[in-house]
Amino acid sequence: MTKTAIYPGSFDPITNGHLSIIRRGLEIFDNIVVAVAINSDKKPLFTTEERLEMIAEVVSPYPNVSVDSFTGLLVEYVVSQGSNVILRGLRALSDYEYEFQMALMNRRLSRDVQSVFMMTDYKWFYISSTIIKEAAQHGGSVGALVPEVVEKRLKQKFAKK
Ligand code: PNS
Repeated sequence: MTKTAIYPGSFDPITNGHLSIIRRGLEIFDNIVVAVAINSDKKPLFTTEERLEMIAEVVSPYPNVSVDSFTGLLVEYVVSQGSNVILRGLRALSDYEYEFQMALMNRRLSRDVQSVFMMTDYKWFYISSTIIKEAAQHGGSVGALVPEVVEKRLKQKFAKK
C-alpha cells in the first residue's frame, strides 16, 4: 500500500525551507501532494496560478510529488485525495502555538486524519515566505533562500510595483 501525505500551505511563495520538508518527507511517504490553500481572506503577493507554476517547476525532479490547490476544509481535501496525513514543517517556537491549534482543530474535525510535523533544517530555521517577501521588496538578495525561479519572479513582481 502506498502512503500519500498532503503538504498544505499558502506557499506565497515556496521557499527552500518548504522544499527541504518535501525532500525529507519523501523519505517517509511514497507520494506528497503540495496543496496550495485558496483563502479569500488573505491577500497573496502571487496568484494561485503563479504559486502553482513555481511549485510545479521546483518539484519537477521529484516524480512522486504533485501540486494542487484546494478550497474549504483541509481535512476534507485530505480524505478526497485518498490520504490521511497532513504534513507540516516546524520552525521556531513561534510556529508551535499556531500549529498545535490547527492540528487540534483538524483532529476535532476529523479523527481519520493525522498531522505529522517535521522539524525544519537549521539552515531554514529563520526564513518564512513573509520575511523573504519583505527583504525582496526592499531590494535585498534572497537568492540563497528560495529556488531560482522564485527569486526571478520576486524580482519581476517588485519591479512592476
Ligand atoms: O502556509 P500557511 O498559511 O501557514 O498554511 C495554513 C493552512 C493553509 C494549512 C491553513 O490555513 C488551512 O488548513 N486552511 C484550510 C481551511 C481549514 O481547513 N481550516 C481549519 C483548520 S484550522
